[in-house]
Amino acid sequence: MQTLPGFRDFYPDDCARRNYILTQWREVARRYGFVEYDGPVLEPMELYEKKSGGELVGQLFDFDDKGKRHVAMRPEMTPTLARMVAARERDFKKPLKWFCVPQFFRYEKQQRGRLREFYQLNCDIIGEPLPAADAELTAVLIDMLRGLGLTENDFVVRLSSRTAWQQFFAQAGGKPEDEYEFFQVVDKAERAPAEKTDELLRKFGLTAQAVLDFMHSKTPTAELVPVLEGLNARGLGAFVEIDYAIVRGLAYYTGVVFEVFDRSKNERALAGGGRYDKLLSLMSDGKVDLPALGFGMGDVVLANLINDTPAAAAQRDAWLKDERACDVYVIIAQEERRSDALALVQQLRDAGQRVDFPLTAAKVGKQFQTAELLGATRAVLVGEEWPQVKVKTLATRAEVLVPSAELVSTLGR
Ligand code: HAM
Repeated sequence: MQTLPGFRDFYPDDCARRNYILTQWREVARRYGFVEYDGPVLEPMELYEKKSGGELVGQLFDFDDKGKRHVAMRPEMTPTLARMVAARERDFKKPLKWFCVPQFFRYEKQQRGRLREFYQLNCDIIGEPLPAADAELTAVLIDMLRGLGLTENDFVVRLSSRTAWQQFFAQAGGKPEDEYEFFQVVDKAERAPAEKTDELLRKFGLTAQAVLDFMHSKTPTAELVPVLEGLNARGLGAFVEIDYAIVRGLAYYTGVVFEVFDRSKNERALAGGGRYDKLLSLMSDGKVDLPALGFGMGDVVLANLINDTPAAAAQRDAWLKDERACDVYVIIAQEERRSDALALVQQLRDAGQRVDFPLTAAKVGKQFQTAELLGATRAVLVGEEWPQVKVKTLATRAEVLVPSAELVSTLGR
């Protein structure tokens, strides 16, 4: 029996690599004052049909449950978050800065950087209309990647604005109700043949050339200027470029939008997000009207980029080594001392050390091999020296004799 296509088994090594990313995400989010939340893995299908829009709806893992409800495994967090906040908006001081690290499911074609199951960090700020929030959100996003050992030579935030495209569309005589369809054409214009784009744009009275000309202009709109200023003031300006090719596929975005790509352009997007100022109102039938913005960053493309970036991979490997399963390995050199050894194991574990020992009798040489294999820094040999024990630092092979009663305090130092 194999896993389903696009799903992963996480053996301990894979799990440790995944946890490296998840731990960093949590640490940086907290450093920026974001607090963690979560929601259900299964949601009513209509939540996504109505709020996500675009390709995502065709990628849902959806089914009828035993109560005949049409449900879907969560493919993203934003509609859930909007519902949660709209339901209890008064309980929270604004602006809210919330993050979560959920697992998502999308029935996509499996390819490099895209699976059918993945983890995605979400950071969102709700209740702040000013561009200071867009700058703060972009800064936390950049610092997530910097924290993982990636630099401005490795990735870039491509900053854009749906407002700018809205104005472009309105000036060309486009109607607001056609905007989203137009955005979807823009979203694909760079990759699609010009004739195809021309054909799709004809009904709006626009041409591929006009769209591409605007797309390639690099002048920041008035909306983007303060965001850039906020990032420059933090010294993070080198991580950002204006790029109007970004419009985002999801239906709910309204203003500033962005996506993050690797500089070598080998990978799919690392992260994407932006403002969705109308979603809470939409979710609450107009009862709660709060501006909002956020982003999602997946673990799959990020892990590929870390693997391919030597400095980032070295930083990860050092972390993994530090996260070894075992600090101290207790070697039982004489089986008649097993009870004494067990008492020491327990004392060390109570003191917070990661301790392992052989469950059954084994030769001392084999036990040392196990200690090395587990990455233990020290071995404690319980045997003929009792009531003293030998403490060996495995890297240097240095040994000291310690009274067993003083072992915990000695190793704690
Ligand atoms: P999204 O662009 O659909 O946005 O996804 C964001 C990121 O999730 C992508 O850039 C990618 O790294 C990762 N991702 C998406 N699909 C897959 C997949 N099939 N396999 C692996 N990774 C994937 C959203 O989901 C928005 N809800 C983000 C957001 C939060 N906007 C505001 N707040």
